[in-house]
Amino acid sequence: MKTILVTGGAGFIGSHTVVELVRAGYRPIIVDDFSNSEHSVIVNLQKLLGQTITCYEQDYTYQSKLRKIIEDEKVDGIIHFAAFKQVGESVKEPLKYYTNNVSGLIGLLEMAAAYKIKHFVFSSSCTVYGEPKKLPVTEDSPLQPAESPYGATKQMGESILRDVTTASEISNAMSLRYFNPIGAHPSALIGELPRGVPANLVPFITQTAAGLREKLTVYGDDYPTDDGSCIRDYIHVVDLAKAHVSALALLENKQASYYDVVNIGTGKGSSVLELLKTFESVTGVKLNYEIGPRRKGDITSTYASVGKAAGLLGWQAEKTLEDSLVDAWRWQQTLSNEEPEES
Ligand code: WQD
Repeated sequence: MKTILVTGGAGFIGSHTVVELVRAGYRPIIVDDFSNSEHSVIVNLQKLLGQTITCYEQDYTYQSKLRKIIEDEKVDGIIHFAAFKQVGESVKEPLKYYTNNVSGLIGLLEMAAAYKIKHFVFSSSCTVYGEPKKLPVTEDSPLQPAESPYGATKQMGESILRDVTTASEISNAMSLRYFNPIGAHPSALIGELPRGVPANLVPFITQTAAGLREKLTVYGDDYPTDDGSCIRDYIHVVDLAKAHVSALALLENKQASYYDVVNIGTGKGSSVLELLKTFESVTGVKLNYEIGPRRKGDITSTYASVGKAAGLLGWQAEKTLEDSLVDAWRWQQTLSNEEPEES
């Protein structure tokens, strides 16, 4: 059974990927410092899977400890989720982002090279495209200059991976460019656990619907789109998790020094106002929202071309926007109704 090191495996996308790895016959090993997750995720993962999951509470950049884990666990592949991902925070604290997301990645790759770990899947983001000139966005769409240090760390990460695989310093790798991950596992045992005031739309919707937030603000309805609100490609986190297993399976059949990038989205764009209306219709819950000013840094519209994911990985999104919102709402309702942190 192949052992896969999952950095950030207790996080939102990481935990859902651990489920799919087990389901596909892998042995995931989680390394997570729990800076953006809770220990209940491990308990619930074990409940969901009916088995123990190995988890090291560990900063993945702590080289000596990571070395011991890799030696003890005989790791065959790495899926690297551990990264800071708040766009706004990255503007305020760029060094924190470059240290963790870029220096951390370099240290991890050095370890992968030293231990001849063959396969490396990197968590990238559609942020690397910036405001696309043409839609849908294909993997050959030009990358715009990053609009935030967060986006810059993803662009740098991809360049580093391309270079180290080309030079065969690590065997093969793939960068998955996520569009907007939303939803939760249908079991409602794992889901998104935003810390403090959610920056992202869907957790803000569900917390407002649950009465934990007074009102949702739609950041602008004066964009050049049909209803004036921004368009994104919202993908169910379970579909996104499955894409990582498909990427790993592909890498296992690829020769050394193979590297590629793949968009992981639904191929469909949905506006903010469409999301609100869909949420209200599938849950029957009226949302209290107002139209506010645009949010700095937001792009008007993006959604993925998904032909490469289908052709190369044999993967495509199966869940609908309705599925994602129903699952997100069910998850919100299972979360204890304690007041959310305001920090
Ligand atoms: C979506 C839309 C907002 C909150 C970011 C990162 C991306 C990925 C996902 C990490 C926008 C609008 C939001 C609210 C609103 N993160 N909105 N009111 O900015 O597309 O993507 O998160 O991988 O890399 O860039 O996601 O959910 O923040 O915003 O109107 O209270 O919802 O303006 O149009 P975004 P988002």
